[in-house]
Amino acid sequence: MKKTRIGIMGCGAISDIYITNFQGMHSDVVELVAISSRRIERSRACAEKYGIPYAMEVEEFYSSDKFDVIVNLTVPKAHYEVCRRGLEAGKHVYTEKPLSLSFREGEELIALAEEKGLYLGGAPDTFLGAGVQTVCKAVEDGLIGQPVGFTAFMLCHGWEPFHPNPDFYYAKGGGPMYDMGPYYLTALVNMLGPVSAVSGMNSNPIPHREVVVGPRTGEVLPVETPTHIAGTLKFENGAIGSMMTSFDVYPIELPHITLFGTKGTIVAPDPNTFGGEIRYLEGESGQWSTLPYVNSYTENSRGLGVRDMCLAIEEGRSMKANARMMNHVLEVMDAFHESADKGTEVIISSRF
Ligand SMILES: NC(=O)c1ccc[n+]([C@@H]2O[C@H](COP(=O)([O-])OP(=O)(O)OC[C@H]3O[C@@H](n4cnc5c(N)ncnc54)[C@H](O)[C@@H]3O)[C@@H](O)[C@H]2O)c1
Repeated sequence: MKKTRIGIMGCGAISDIYITNFQGMHSDVVELVAISSRRIERSRACAEKYGIPYAMEVEEFYSSDKFDVIVNLTVPKAHYEVCRRGLEAGKHVYTEKPLSLSFREGEELIALAEEKGLYLGGAPDTFLGAGVQTVCKAVEDGLIGQPVGFTAFMLCHGWEPFHPNPDFYYAKGGGPMYDMGPYYLTALVNMLGPVSAVSGMNSNPIPHREVVVGPRTGEVLPVETPTHIAGTLKFENGAIGSMMTSFDVYPIELPHITLFGTKGTIVAPDPNTFGGEIRYLEGESGQWSTLPYVNSYTENSRGLGVRDMCLAIEEGRSMKANARMMNHVLEVMDAFHESADKGTEVIISSRF
C-alpha cells in the first residue's frame, strides 16, 4: 500500500508519542518525512533523535513538496495560523485540539478546507479507541434504553508537575475546558449525538501559577482564563447532564463519565485514554458486568486519527476525527464561557 507522507509542525512535549506511533504502530499507513518548529535547533535535534529525514525552517516547511499532510502539534494560540497556512499551501491538516481559539475561527478554517478540497481534522482521537467505541456501541444497541442524563468530571490541580512550559494551560485557549474538555465532549457527542444547549458558570480562584519542573522552575505565570468551570448540557436526543472541569482542586475518585438511561447505567473509562474498563449496571436485575471491547486499540494509540485521515484520503471517504465535529465541540466549550458571561443558556447552532 502507498504510504501517505506527513510533516509535523511543533516538537514539544506531546510530539514524542506521535512520532513513536508514526514510526511504529501506524508506519504501515504513514511515512514521517519532516519536522519543523519555531526553533530550528530544536527541530534538528528532534530529527536526529528519531531519524526523521528533514528538519525544516517554518517557511521551507509550508512550501515543501516532500509531504502532503501536516500534523499540527503547536500550542493552541498557534493552531489557527498553522492550519490556515497549511491549507493555503495545499496540504491536508490534522491539528492538536482545540481546532482554534474560537468557533468563528474554526468555521473560517472549515470553509477554507472545503474551498480547497482538502481534509481538515484533529485531536482528540482517543474516542476511536476501544473504551469509548465500546460505550458508543452499547448505547446504539439500546443497553441503557433511552439516554436520560450523564455526569462528566475532569478534576485536577493543574499539569505543572508534568510540563516544563505550562504557560498555554493558563493563557487564552487554555484552562481545563479548552485543554481537557475536548476529550470529554468528543466522547459524549459520539455516545449521545450533538449538543443543543449549554448553561455554564466559571471562576478563577488561583490568580498565579508557578513552573515547578524544568529550567524555568520558580517562574510565576499569569492566569488569563477561567480555571474552574461547571455547567449543564442538553443533547438533541433529550439527555441532560452535568460537567465540571477544574485545574484548581485536589481530586477524589469520581467516575470520568457516567451515562444514565431508562434501562441501565454505564460507567465509561477515562476519555483521555484508549482503553479502560467499561462497567454496566442492568437496571431491573441490579447486575453489574464489564463490557467486552469492540476493537483492539486499548494502548496509547495517539495518531490513530491521522491514520484514519490518511486512509480516508486514499479511499475518498470522510474522516472520523473531522473538523466539523471538532468545531461543534469548540462551540460547546465557548458556550460554557459565553453563558457564564451573560448569565443565560446558550443555544448551539452547529451539527456534525
Ligand atoms: N503535553 C501534553 O501532555 C499534551 C497532551 C495532549 C495534547 N496536547 C496538545 O498538544 C499541543 C502541544 O502541546 P505540547 O505540550 O507539546 O506544547 P509545547 O509547548 O511543549 O510544544 C509546542 C511546540 O510548538 C511550537 N510552536 C509554538 N508556536 C508555534 C508557531 N506559531 N509556529 C510553529 N511552531 C510553534 C514550539 O516551538 C514547540 O515546539 C497543544 O495543543 C496541547 O493541547 C498536549
